[in-house]
Order: sequence, then structure tokens, then C-alpha cells
Amino acid sequence: MHRCDLGLIGWGTVGGGVTRILAQDGGLLRERCGLDLRLKTIVTRNPSRAREAPAAGAAVTDRLDAILADDAIRTVIHLVGGTAEATEICRACLNAGKNVVTANKAMLALHGDELFQLAADRGLCIAFEAAVAGGIPVIAALRDGLVANHIQAIYAILNGTCNYILSKMESEGRGYREALADAQRLGYAETDPTLDVDGTDTAHKLAILARIAFNGRIPFAAIRTEGIQSITFDDIRSAHTMGCRIKLLAVAQRRSNGLELRVAPTLVPVDHPLASVSANYNGIFIQGHAVGTTLLVGQGAGAMPTASAVLADVVDICTGRYQATANRFTFFTQASPVSLLPENEELTGSYARFLVPDRAGVLAGIATILSKHGVSLLSIHQAAPDREGQAIIEAVTHPHRGGSFLKAVEEIDHSALTVRPTVTLRRL
Ligand code: HSE
Repeated sequence: MHRCDLGLIGWGTVGGGVTRILAQDGGLLRERCGLDLRLKTIVTRNPSRAREAPAAGAAVTDRLDAILADDAIRTVIHLVGGTAEATEICRACLNAGKNVVTANKAMLALHGDELFQLAADRGLCIAFEAAVAGGIPVIAALRDGLVANHIQAIYAILNGTCNYILSKMESEGRGYREALADAQRLGYAETDPTLDVDGTDTAHKLAILARIAFNGRIPFAAIRTEGIQSITFDDIRSAHTMGCRIKLLAVAQRRSNGLELRVAPTLVPVDHPLASVSANYNGIFIQGHAVGTTLLVGQGAGAMPTASAVLADVVDICTGRYQATANRFTFFTQASPVSLLPENEELTGSYARFLVPDRAGVLAGIATILSKHGVSLLSIHQAAPDREGQAIIEAVTHPHRGGSFLKAVEEIDHSALTVRPTVTLRRL
């Protein structure tokens, strides 16, 4: 039996899941992998706060040094949110000679280059399965299982909070605020839920996945990112009319002239496997040249699913497996920078909802302008006019160059064809 003393920094939602598993299921890990995992010290801002989660036999303190100065602790579970302080603490752990298991995607997306180099220089590991898609082992899948593939595309639902909100709005006709409050209560949301709903959390995760999939340094700030804050029930109903559901989608697409990366609310056709990924579930659809397509689905947020991923990394490090395999990969220490395609070079399908006066020639006028810009319609729907004689035309297009669609809609809105700015979304 190999004994491993662990430190935990950050005893919040996920930390509670980790201590619960260690307290209740240590026997499973002993039996499965011959590891006696002992949580020796927990560092938390508020040691005396009453908690439901057990301390798993650990001493609880607010002194970081209790872990940093303890030579028996070789591996630290780093569950610190935010960026600046989390990065500082991660650096301190590495400088103190500790391996780090983290769930902090923002830290890795923004400071991964520096931290992974520091770890490599010191012969240590940073393991981060829990940083992307909660309990789904997508990092291991991309890094190991799909290593022989040129990855052509990743389409992914990576934020449990957003998926929960959109699913509740659709299935229960709930308001956005009410659904968000529910997601927070269930422990899915970040401390600051703005990062969930504005797409930033998804972009952090996309940057990490793209880094592994395309073996390149991803300029995080260049990922075009839109959130779900302005999605209304009308949008959800329209998507339904067009045979789709709205999902906050992370897209990584290899094109002959470069890489497309974006996060945006997107109409996903109901027969696409990602359309049925709902509630706090995440789904990652990957296309590789050898494997074809593959789909991973599971809970992407919450205490126990994320703790499951944390402990998988702990086991990998404590058995020496991580050092023998993952540390050989070059995606964080040697990858070269990749340039992302500008928006007007992207190939994407689109959706538009035009509010128009119900008179002859309007539909033809819209179709003419779209076709002038090289945008081809896939399907179109017109609802009966309301009492003011205005009608809604909903259209989805075949994939086209992104810029051409926006230019066409601008021209349509500047003509007398619409009575309100047109709502546009992307379509997978
Ligand atoms: N707030 C995140 C989500 C948690 O909702 O998916 C996991 O990163």
C-alpha cells in the first residue's frame, strides 16, 4: 500500500466533494490502485465555518504555510477560484516542490504558459482534468485516447450553469433570472456568475481544449466570446420553430487557412447529439481524422462530478502515471502560437429573425439581399401577422463566410424591409 499525504487549498463546493469522497470512499481507491490517500491539511479562509462536508481527518487552518512548509505533502489539490491569487498560490506550491491538481480553468487559460514551464523546470506536474467539463474525462480523452488523431473540430457545451438556464427556460418556460438563481443554489455557478453567463468560463475551457487538440498556444483574448444574457424566450421559441435548440456552444474548427475558435449561443438542430445534452450536463463532440466523430457527455459542474475528476488526477500523480505519460506532452511547454481566423473568414450557418411589415415583396427583398451577399437559405418560416400588420420571418442559412451575413443583415435593416433591428444568432 502506497501512502500519499495530500493538502487541499480551498474548501468550497468542489473541495467539499473531494473531502466527502476521501472520507467515504478511501477504501475504493485503496482496493483499486493500492493507494492510501490521506488528506493531511485543509487550508481555507474560514476554518471555523460550519460545513456539511467532512474534513476527512485533516487539520483545518487558514495558514497556507501549513501545506507549503510540510515536506510530507507532495501533492496539493488547488481549488482556489479567481485568477490573481489562485496563480500566486499555484506558483507558491510549485516553488515549494509540490505537484498541483487544479480545477481553475481561468488560471490555466491565462497563465498556463508560465505555470507549466515552472512545473516542468522543477520536475513537477500540474494536472487539470477538473478544469474542463467537470466529471467528464475529456482532457484524458483528447490527450491520450485521441492522441493519434488530427482533430478537425470540437463542438462543445462546456458550462453547466448556462446549459441549465437554457434548458429550464425551454422546458419550464422559466425566466432567465429565476433559472440562474436555481443554478447558483445547486452549486453549478462560479463565485461570480457573470463569468458563466457572459461566456468567459466557456472560453477558458475552450482555450485549454484547443491547446491540447491543436498543440498550439491559444491567444485567449482573441477568442470571440458571446454569452447568453440577451437570449429571450422568443429566441428559444423561434429556434424550436426552426427545428433547433439554443446552446451556448464552444467551437474549434480547423480550416485550410487557419483555426476558428468562438463561444456563442448557437442554434443546434434537434437531431444533432448535442441538442439533447441538457440541464447541468456538458457535451463534447469531437471530430478526428481517424476516429471519426465521438461524443462525451456528463455532468459538467457541481461538487461530486468535479471532485471525481480531481481525484482521478490525484490518483494519476500518486501512482506516478501522470509523470510517466502526461508530462511528456508538449502542448503547454513547447507549443508554438496559433493564429485564429478573423470573424469575416469564419464559415458558419446563421439564424435571423426579421420583424417586417406584412406586404408584398418583403420576403423577396430579404432573399435578394442575402443572395447578393452570397448567403444561401436553408429554410425559412413566416408567422401570421400580428394586429399591427407586422410579421416575423425566421430564416436559417447554409454555412457561409461570417462577414457576408452580417453585411447582408445590416443592408436589410437599413432598407425599409424591417421595422426593428434583426435578431441574429449562429447555427451549427
Ligand atoms: N461554473 C461552471 C459551470 C462550473 O457552470 O460549468 C465548472 O467549471
